[in-house]
Amino acid sequence: MTPSDDLLNQALAHHAAGRLADAEAIYRRLLQDDPNQAVPMHMLGVVAHQAGNNDLAVDLIGQALVLQPDYANAHYNLGNALKDLGRPHEAVAAYQQSLAQNPSSADGHFNLANVLADLGELDQAVACFAAAIALQPDYGAAHFNMGNALKGLGRMEDAVAAYKSALAIPPASAEVHHNLGLALHQLGRMDQAIASYRAALAIQPEFTAAHYNLGKVLMSEDRSIEAIASFEHVLKRATGDDRTGAELALAHLGVMDPPATTPASFIKSYYQSRVQDWSNADWDKDAESYQGYEILSKILNFEGDRTDLAILDAGCGTGTLATLLRPYARHLEGVDLSPDMVEKARKKDLYDTLIEDDLEHYLSDGQRRFDRVVAAAVLVHFSRLDQIFAKFHRVLNPDGTLALTLFVDDDCEKFSVNVAGFFSHNPAYAIQAATDAGLTLIAQERGVHEVHGTTDIIGVGLLFQK
Ligand SMILES: C[S@@+](CC[C@H](N)C(=O)[O-])C[C@H]1O[C@@H](n2cnc3c(N)ncnc32)[C@H](O)[C@@H]1O
Repeated sequence: MTPSDDLLNQALAHHAAGRLADAEAIYRRLLQDDPNQAVPMHMLGVVAHQAGNNDLAVDLIGQALVLQPDYANAHYNLGNALKDLGRPHEAVAAYQQSLAQNPSSADGHFNLANVLADLGELDQAVACFAAAIALQPDYGAAHFNMGNALKGLGRMEDAVAAYKSALAIPPASAEVHHNLGLALHQLGRMDQAIASYRAALAIQPEFTAAHYNLGKVLMSEDRSIEAIASFEHVLKRATGDDRTGAELALAHLGVMDPPATTPASFIKSYYQSRVQDWSNADWDKDAESYQGYEILSKILNFEGDRTDLAILDAGCGTGTLATLLRPYARHLEGVDLSPDMVEKARKKDLYDTLIEDDLEHYLSDGQRRFDRVVAAAVLVHFSRLDQIFAKFHRVLNPDGTLALTLFVDDDCEKFSVNVAGFFSHNPAYAIQAATDAGLTLIAQERGVHEVHGTTDIIGVGLLFQK
């Protein structure tokens, strides 16, 4: 062993023991003696990465790779630094280079899979997790993350199997039990989902997402008292979306007043998780679970020969209605709060203008005018309707019309919260609010708007004229 080999071994021992400063000092000394050494250069880059200095890490590891292009571990660590710098495509390339040199690295396959999953390349991610697991069958995190990717692909049975494999490898994880609960819930295996959430809470009693999701299953099973207890746990600790969800649920269960508005962040994350379902929808297809467009098409009064209308698709979502509206429009504009939904709508290339904004804020701009406003299944996120109707009135040209759909609750005074956390309205209240805003009802149509689980959600289409 040469003196420099001995020094390098000392540095590696310091590094492995977490004594980064000692390791760094020796790597630097070695490089002072001879700057063309790939190993200390790479390891100095690893120290920089561990210290959170990823730009420096990329630079140093890049220099090591110039010295030794087939250095598998350096490609791997370059991938880690690039990932942490938010450069996922370059990280993928680095991990792939690393695996080309060292295909038997379970960590290499695992880290590549994680970046692919972040990039939404879920099929490829699943293949890489499987490769990691083939090399290291007891790789618990790989089983868990594979379950998440499979869940993202809608392959719930496979996700359940992956989560169960993860749970077979100690230590037991609350997060795995929780995500298993989510997959089982989606599969409609309610008792098993409840057991999984409870197992998560046994490990981590303050796991608010587990309390929240447990509450949701219990509520859907009509076990109201237990559901209320779960949602009250959430209120004790959670902020943000889980808190909003719990407030909506407790309002549905009659324990709280409905919140005045649904916060934008809640709507954005809800539609981020649902965007794929919506982008597969088509307004004239008889989707089994969603029939809202049928109600709408019965009340729409678009004259056959007009092609000169200025039309607003309010809460346009993924733009499902655009194919219906486009032939009548001189100008077709869409507005929606959810960036994920707007992005899908943009891909349809049917709107003249698409705006990502809160509807009330958007309508407050005094310049906009339309002949037709369509608001399909968007006021289900609004409790009171007086302000929004006044704003619709303001943007309508004389004789212009507003067509909308709502969920119906004939038993409430004005509005209530349904089991899915949407607002239902008493149509009499909605009609009165629109009338007060200066709009006249000219048509209405009731029907099943959609089916949630086995429950029919009754909706109403209302057509008003200015
Ligand atoms: C149930 S989807 C309906 C989408 C579309 N109208 C359709 O029928 O296919 C409701 C849409 O309303 C949007 N939304 C909810 N609250 C909103 C708000 N305050 N401002 C703008 N858009 C909103 C959501 O982001 C979502 O895309």
